[in-house]
Amino acid sequence: MSDSPLITPEAVDAAVAEALDAVAAAADTAALKAARAAHQAEGSPLAKLNASLRQVAPEQKAGFGKLVGQARGRVSQAFVAREAELAAAETAAKLESERVDITALGSRRRVGARNPLTLVQDEVADLFVGMGWEIAEGPELEHEWFNFDALNFDVDHPARQMQDTFFVDPVDRHLVMRTHTSPVQMRSMLTREVPIYILCPGRVYRTDEFDSTHLPVFTQYEGLVVDKGITMANLKGTLDHVARELFGADAKTRFRTNYFPFTEPSAELDLWHPTFPGGARWIEVGGCGMVNPNVLRAGGIDPEVYSGFAFGMGIERTLMLRSGVEDMRDMAEGDVRFSEQFGMVV
Ligand code: PHE
Repeated sequence: MSDSPLITPEAVDAAVAEALDAVAAAADTAALKAARAAHQAEGSPLAKLNASLRQVAPEQKAGFGKLVGQARGRVSQAFVAREAELAAAETAAKLESERVDITALGSRRRVGARNPLTLVQDEVADLFVGMGWEIAEGPELEHEWFNFDALNFDVDHPARQMQDTFFVDPVDRHLVMRTHTSPVQMRSMLTREVPIYILCPGRVYRTDEFDSTHLPVFTQYEGLVVDKGITMANLKGTLDHVARELFGADAKTRFRTNYFPFTEPSAELDLWHPTFPGGARWIEVGGCGMVNPNVLRAGGIDPEVYSGFAFGMGIERTLMLRSGVEDMRDMAEGDVRFSEQFGMVV
């Protein structure tokens, strides 16, 4: 039978040699499995030689049986040894690929931080809400009437000119980017009932340079009170309280006479603190005054019955004085590395 090859030592050696070569050549367990099918399993040369034992004459059976048996034993051992070797190598490779450095620094997702200007703005708003005032808002793109005319600015007042104001095309619509938060005074008078106690924090725009002490977009907070019997003493008392709340018990305020079209009398507000950056000194922080009767009238309020005060201050200046920020551009650029330094409290 062609399927029962003749058993000879050469044939057995050849089958063994082929099988051992295949074992040695198997580079992974899949290749070893294929080699096993070809050289050890049923149908392999060795298995066929083994099957041929049946045809061997009885007196030769022991000799041939031993020959084939030993050959199969060697091949089988070679498979077992190689299998262990490959399994160990594969396990080692897997462990290596899954290695975790438990001493490595964790990667933290940066959650960002609120801009310190927003934090100061919120703190100032809380302070006034605590005194029973309301928060008012107005548009940043504002009508010239609210920004200037209603606030008693002459048609030829220098603040209207191109060097300060962003006029918005088309010019005949008379829209500007508000140059201060004071238009919210007029909006509040026209939409609210007296008495009025409002605070308006918000962005304002001027055609200033972008440098360490100027920003073309900055933040103010506007205060307005209209009630019966309001005097300059109420204004001074309010600002003293605010200064101490924001800067500490040692803070002092002083008024220097000044001119604004919408207040009469008007004052520049200076603030003094022993630990200001640069030492104990007076620093200008805003403008204020008694609401001009013309403005009350434009707001539909009778100046014979009511009087009021108003003030406007800069959030950027407040932040610089409180936190020692030296370059205003840091506040505008929104770099999280700057904001993070303030945490959630300024
Ligand atoms: N609006 C003024 C400014 O921006 C400040 C101010 C507000 C002055 C309210 C008086 C009263 O310079």
